[in-house]
Amino acid sequence: MRIDILTLLPKLFDGPFSDSILKRAQEKGHVTIHLHNLRDYSTDKHKNVDDYQYGGGAGMVMRVEPIAACIEKLKAEREYDEIIYMTPDGELLEQGISNQLSINTNIMVLCGHYKGVDERIREHYISKEISIGSYVLSGGELAAAVLVDSIVRLIPGVLNDETSALTDSFQDNLLSPPVYTRPPSFNGWEVPEVLLSGNPKEIELWREREALRRTKIRRPDLLD
Ligand code: ADE
Repeated sequence: MRIDILTLLPKLFDGPFSDSILKRAQEKGHVTIHLHNLRDYSTDKHKNVDDYQYGGGAGMVMRVEPIAACIEKLKAEREYDEIIYMTPDGELLEQGISNQLSINTNIMVLCGHYKGVDERIREHYISKEISIGSYVLSGGELAAAVLVDSIVRLIPGVLNDETSALTDSFQDNLLSPPVYTRPPSFNGWEVPEVLLSGNPKEIELWREREALRRTKIRRPDLLD
């Protein structure tokens, strides 16, 4: 998979993409991530990428020209399955969206700033608008990093044990059951007997029951 990210702050991605699973996924060739600084696409002499909004009011708007120039350049080079805009008024990100996006070949992700992007970009280029939650971040970059992480870990071969993505919380609309590791007793706090029983059927049953119990208590909305 190829992911192109359009941003005013490419350095913000240095951390999340240079460690752990995202780093390994890139090293193993499962994904290539390309950062594009929108300022490089501004043709005015001060490299401006924002301007006052028509009609007045506080807050700057990201200008149409640099974004359009970057998108057009990329679209001329390959076909994109989705051009995604990260915005608090987008569709709320959930596992199903990441699952769908993980089977794509080329996706573009546009990060907004200030008051957002000129609406004409949304009307003419964007195929999907995604929010990572009902709160406002300073820009779309952290949201894009969250989206990319949730997608890349689902690409076959990225996780060592492929089944571990399938047993993640949310994959079957259930939260994950509790997990334990050694020692079996710590401070008098015991690991549930059944997990030490060596009986795979009993263990599976216990995990299903616990997943359901946890979901009922914490996220009953998932069971609707
Ligand atoms: N940009 C600012 N806030 C955001 C959010 N909650 N989700 C996605 N993009 C955003």
